[in-house]
Amino acid sequence: MPEVLLSTHDLKAGYGDFQALFGIDLTLNRGEVLALIGANGAGKSTLLKAVTGLVSCRSDMVRFHGKEIGGQRPDRIAREGIALVPEGRRLFRSLTVEENLIIGGEHAKSGAWSLERIYSLFSILAERRKNPGTALSGGQQQMVAIGRALMANPDVILFDEISLGLAPVVIKDIYAVLPKIVDSGVSAILVEQDVSRALSVAHRFVCMQEGKISLAGQPSQFSRAEVTAAYFGT
Ligand SMILES: Nc1ncnc2c1ncn2[C@@H]1O[C@H](COP(=O)(O)OP(=O)(O)OP(=O)(O)O)[C@@H](O)[C@H]1O
Ligand SMILES: [Mg+2]
Repeated sequence: MPEVLLSTHDLKAGYGDFQALFGIDLTLNRGEVLALIGANGAGKSTLLKAVTGLVSCRSDMVRFHGKEIGGQRPDRIAREGIALVPEGRRLFRSLTVEENLIIGGEHAKSGAWSLERIYSLFSILAERRKNPGTALSGGQQQMVAIGRALMANPDVILFDEISLGLAPVVIKDIYAVLPKIVDSGVSAILVEQDVSRALSVAHRFVCMQEGKISLAGQPSQFSRAEVTAAYFGT
């Protein structure tokens, strides 16, 4: 039996009076890459925010290592071992590459990730270590955002729109490191606009539509047409 690391249970969440998630049940197993797909506004980011404490929910709606963590503070959830690579990277742009990475390592769990290891994953960051965030390309910023998340030595890493707005060559570079991250023992949820790409790297996927799960399983179980229908609701 796979070991369930992270799970949501009838997860409902939203913003004030606006409900964005209507009872999401999903699991992430150890060693797994789970693709989370769905059209704009489906609730993918809200799901990641609920899991990381940025959007509130009831404590029993999210479990990590079997423990209820729903509604806990973001810093506490981060320390438990869940790291988010947020949409839009959100670096400290006045700080250098290295300073941004070091911030990611504050309160880190013990584990394999270190500055040196991040630099061997993304050699361009080693060259740019003294550069400020403002001097980086979008792809380099995304590498810093991923490195910063890894510096916490998380058990789970959540990528929100990992390749959005990046050039194809850069996307290839970013995807090339994904197996290395997973091999280091980190499990991942991957939110991605490019459905084919997401499904090609994922063990399982969940498709969301208007705050609910419309399809879930292994990519090989469904035809492209079935996935498209679940995506657009046609
Ligand atoms: N801060 C917010 N305040 C109010 N409503 C919000 C907020 N953020 C998102 N929403 C709404 O919640 C719903 C789900 O949004 P969410 O950002 O989770 O979707 P998404 O699947 O990540 O979409 P996208 O692909 O555009 O990133 C949408 O209807 C959106 O308009
Ligand atoms: Mg989003």
